[in-house]
Amino acid sequence: LDNGVARTPPMGWNSWNSFGCNINEALIRQTADAIVSSGMRDLGYNYVVVDDCWFNPNRDSSGNIQGDPGRFPSGMKALGDYLHARNLKFGLYQVPVDKTCAQYFGSYPGATGSRGHEVQDARQFAAWGVDFLKYDWCSPEGSINDQVATFAKMRDALAATGRPIVYSINPNSIHAKTGPQRNWGDVANMWRTTEDITNAWDTGQTNGYPMGIQNIINVTVPLASYARPGGFNDPDMMEVGRGGMNDTEMRSHFAMWAIMASPLIAGNDVRNMNAATQTILKNANLIAINQDSLGLQGTQVSFDGTRRVLAKRLANGDVAVALFNQGGSTTTISTTAAAIGKSGSSFTLVDAWTGGTSSSTGTISASVPAHGTVVYRVSGGGTVPPTTPPPTTSSAYASA
Ligand code: GLA
Repeated sequence: LDNGVARTPPMGWNSWNSFGCNINEALIRQTADAIVSSGMRDLGYNYVVVDDCWFNPNRDSSGNIQGDPGRFPSGMKALGDYLHARNLKFGLYQVPVDKTCAQYFGSYPGATGSRGHEVQDARQFAAWGVDFLKYDWCSPEGSINDQVATFAKMRDALAATGRPIVYSINPNSIHAKTGPQRNWGDVANMWRTTEDITNAWDTGQTNGYPMGIQNIINVTVPLASYARPGGFNDPDMMEVGRGGMNDTEMRSHFAMWAIMASPLIAGNDVRNMNAATQTILKNANLIAINQDSLGLQGTQVSFDGTRRVLAKRLANGDVAVALFNQGGSTTTISTTAAAIGKSGSSFTLVDAWTGGTSSSTGTISASVPAHGTVVYRVSGGGTVPPTTPPPTTSSAYASA
């Protein structure tokens, strides 16, 4: 979506994976402080997104949506001010239907969705200083055309406020519309590619609830051509640092999100991060690959069912290559400079995890542990120009 924001994949934190409905103003403030003190903000993690359950279950007498005064006693504007004072940005969750997912499933009272209140709610969000809206379908009803019209309505309401707001949509909740239905790049800045992520490597799902890390990668890799500045595939908030995977798997999770030009939205409790988690989330080499200004998602070079190779062209002519082992034992994964779009005969490889440098005359290869990912940044020689991303708008769905 060409609304001036998300020219590179948004980075930040979201409350849902770790806290669900157990959120309040103290938690969000402590999290914001930890994002600053841990150095995450200065590496780019700037959107602090308050997910479901922040609201008062009832609108006021004029129909305005309100924060929950018990959880957010200082009010939503004050929370936005707190974040902005720390050079962070403010994100909120809402739905385009009657009930949020937590309300739909009965874990939170009321019915506060934006249906019929789109313009009013967009104005309220802008007045609170909201910089990011996560808009979650959360309804078993409706066709793909209903989704497009409904998501476009809030897109237009946000644009009408004049405030730059990242628009993050989820067309996939409640199994309603699993899978890539269409290219959402004319509607939103990021769009979920699957059902909800869970804190596990593999749940055996191909596109049902809940999705493991590897299952989400399998769905999202083929969607590479949709990604471009202003619009990115969203494989969901990260589970790095949540304990459901070993360190090798967590490194793969982060490396693959990075090379897939995915939004890097942490989902762990950043107030309590161990050293391994910090090393992963703060890997500056991978963040640079993810945040590259071309905004391209790594495309698949080869995959034999176990060994997957992705390549992501970068603005300075380098190419990042991921050697991802989806199998259960250590294996050698190889590709070539030519296969990843490099010409020439002399290359330098920088290992994104170790920072170690090696030279190559064309072979790119590594021994990769089970579920591991080796990422090299390959420089030298020439680079085949990036493929042209698809057009920004699909005219059939250009407006509501
Ligand atoms: C859906 C979304 C999640 C989260 C919850 C909140 O399941 O996919 O990311 O926002 O709703 O209820």
